[in-house]
Order: sequence, then structure tokens, then C-alpha cells
Amino acid sequence: MYLTDEEKRILDGEKGEIAQRSMSFLVEYGEAAGAERLIDIDGTVDVHPLADWIPQYAVTLDEVRELVKKGERFKVPTFANKPVAPGFIIDGWEKCGLPKNSDPEYRRKNMEALQPYIDMGMIPIFSCNYYLVSSFLPTVGQHCAWVESSAIPWANAILGARTNFDGCFHTAYLGKVPAYDMHLDENRRATVLVKCETELKSDIDYDLFGWAVGEAVDLEVPALVGIGKPTTSQLVKMNSALNTGGQVRMYHVPGLTPEAPTVEAAFQGNYQREISITRADLRRVYDKLNYATKEDVDFVYLGCPHYNIYDICRAAKLLEGKKCKTLLWIMTNPSSYQVAERMGLRKIIEDAGGVLLSGSCPGALLETPPMKVMATDSAKQNYYLTGMFYPEKLDVWYGSMEECINAAITGKWSSDWR
Ligand code: F3S
Repeated sequence: MYLTDEEKRILDGEKGEIAQRSMSFLVEYGEAAGAERLIDIDGTVDVHPLADWIPQYAVTLDEVRELVKKGERFKVPTFANKPVAPGFIIDGWEKCGLPKNSDPEYRRKNMEALQPYIDMGMIPIFSCNYYLVSSFLPTVGQHCAWVESSAIPWANAILGARTNFDGCFHTAYLGKVPAYDMHLDENRRATVLVKCETELKSDIDYDLFGWAVGEAVDLEVPALVGIGKPTTSQLVKMNSALNTGGQVRMYHVPGLTPEAPTVEAAFQGNYQREISITRADLRRVYDKLNYATKEDVDFVYLGCPHYNIYDICRAAKLLEGKKCKTLLWIMTNPSSYQVAERMGLRKIIEDAGGVLLSGSCPGALLETPPMKVMATDSAKQNYYLTGMFYPEKLDVWYGSMEECINAAITGKWSSDWR
């Protein structure tokens, strides 16, 4: 990989051992990915604080504290995704009912561990959809280092910024990222035209569509036509499913994606094939995600990706004046939690027997409520949680917010999705 003189000096240790380790990581990872150089990040970074995905390059908490003492800061605007090492609940933890997460000492220690990152300049959004609440977003063409399934296509396809899945301490600390895949013009062009041949009406229609497209195109860049006018909630769901059912980091919706005002602009001469997604494809994914057999439900989980404030409004309206028979969690980001509190929505949810939480999810926590049958409105959560329970069996029902809340109130699953 080509390195500038300054980058070589960092690699040689001139700026200290942690900068050297961070640069070694970027070089080794960049070379494995086929990058020929590093790019200076001019957008933003998103990190899972405390996560050490690659142990030999991990930067310990004590080392971060030392950097803080020396006055060192992240080089670029850096935002916190949900904590994952360990995952813990930011708001509402007192009522979650989990032994570890409802222990004040456990939460205090975990919050304390995040402080050095905050002192380095990390903005504590603590959410997988930090991009909905961060109030500072990259603009078209800016290079970023983000993580999270729904966030990556959001940056690339909705904002027109450029990112792979590599937001971490090292990219934030050095403000650099290997130049490969979505940072390069040639990899962003669409190769496959995806015609949506069914009307997408509901949130789960977009979730199922995203999954079906992800399965069909995997790593290719699709241009999506005929998807109607999705709401923000629907786009977030579609993005998370595109990048869970497959590995879609970038797509084009002509007229919506900044670099694709037209279908031709999306392909830039790179058209290779065309597929159609029909109602039958959505039905196939729906059947795959609905594999519970018992209609009694133990746990209902809503908020993957974290619910936005309007989702919480809709859920609270469905719960107002009702009583849940089954444990119900509604997960949001800490900022929307505060707004929900101010609007009286948390109280409505709690009066109905549900719990509003922020900053994590069952898939990110190290513990979950005791359950054998779960209901959720998220294809992604369904996929992750089932895998994490293995080899124990977890039965999952998948359906709309309305169906899930109905299951929480009645204790039983019923659905009429078609
Ligand atoms: Fe977010 Fe957890 Fe889903 S972190 S995207 S709610 S798996």
C-alpha cells in the first residue's frame, strides 16, 4: 500500500505506540481489502465504544485514559453507536427486569468505562441509528468510517457519503481509512436493476423487500425502481434488511440517491442484469422469518433498528388504555427516549405494562428475558437473536408493529399479513 511520508512516520512509531498500532491495523486491513492507499476522512466516524473486534490491535481503556491525559482527541467528528463490550441499557434499565442490567452498580461501571471515549471527543449518541439523531451528518462525497447494517447504506445511498463497514477507534484516532470498495467511484455504480413489482405499503413490506433484494443481489450494487415513497422508518427497515439478508452496502433509488438522478446515472454504463421482486418473494421471506409453532408469546420486542420518535408515538397510541399480558420492550435511542419522556409516551407505555428502553437491544446485550417464543417486527433482530440462542431453540413470530402489540396485549400471536 502506498503511504505518505507522514503515514510512514506514524507506522515507524514517531507519534507513539498507539498511533503506530492503529496505523499497522489500517495498513494490514487495507492490504487485505486490496486498498492501494489511505484516505483522509472528511466526513464522520461511528464507533462501537470499547469493542475490540481484532484483539491484537485493541486499544485498552487504560491506554485511552493515557491518551486523554496527554490531551489527545479523535481527529474527526466521532459518534457513538450502541455499546457492545458489554452491551448495556442506557435508559429505562431500572425496569428491564434483567439481573445484570437492572443492577445500578453494573450500569455505573459501564457508563464510567465510556467516559474516556467521551473525553477523547466521542459524541455519546449510543444508537445503531445515530444518523437519525446526531444532528451532524456527512455530505455528498465525504469519506467516512461507519458501522452497523442500516447505517452503511444510509450513508452511501441516502446521504451520498462514502463508507465501508470500518468505524472503529483506529479510524477515528488517525482520521484515515483504507481506500477500497465504496470509497471508489467505480464500485459505487449499479450493476443490477431491481424492479419492484408489488406495491410496498407497510413498514414490514419494506423490511421484507430489503431482505428479498439482499438475498438476490448479495454484494452487488442494485438500482431499485418502483419502491414508492418510503417513510424514514421504512427506509431504515429496508436498509437494515438489505444488509442482513444480503450485504448491500450501496444501492441507488433514481431520484433519491444523490449520485443517481436517473436510472442511467445509477449504472453509468455498468448494467449487467435485471431482476423482479414480486409479492411471492416477500411471502417467501415472510414464511422463512415466521417459524414459531406455538401461538403463546413470552416476549415482544420492538425497535430494531432503534425506534424513532414517530414509531414510539404510533406504539404508544396502540397501547393507550390497554394492559399487556406479555413482556413488551420498545427500544429507542437515548435522544428519542428523552423526547418520549417529555411527551408522556414513556408513561403511556409503562401504564400498559410495557417498557421503554434505550441504547441497546436483546441482540447486543449479554442477557435476555427468559423466553421460548418471541414476536418482533424486525427481520434483522429475528435473524440475530435466533442465531445467538443456538443451540437452544428460540421460536420467533415476525409481523407488523400492530400485530406485535396485539400479541403483547393478548399473549397470543395472530397475523393477517399478505
Ligand atoms: Fe440496533 Fe440491535 Fe438491531 S443495535 S439494528 S436494535 S440488532
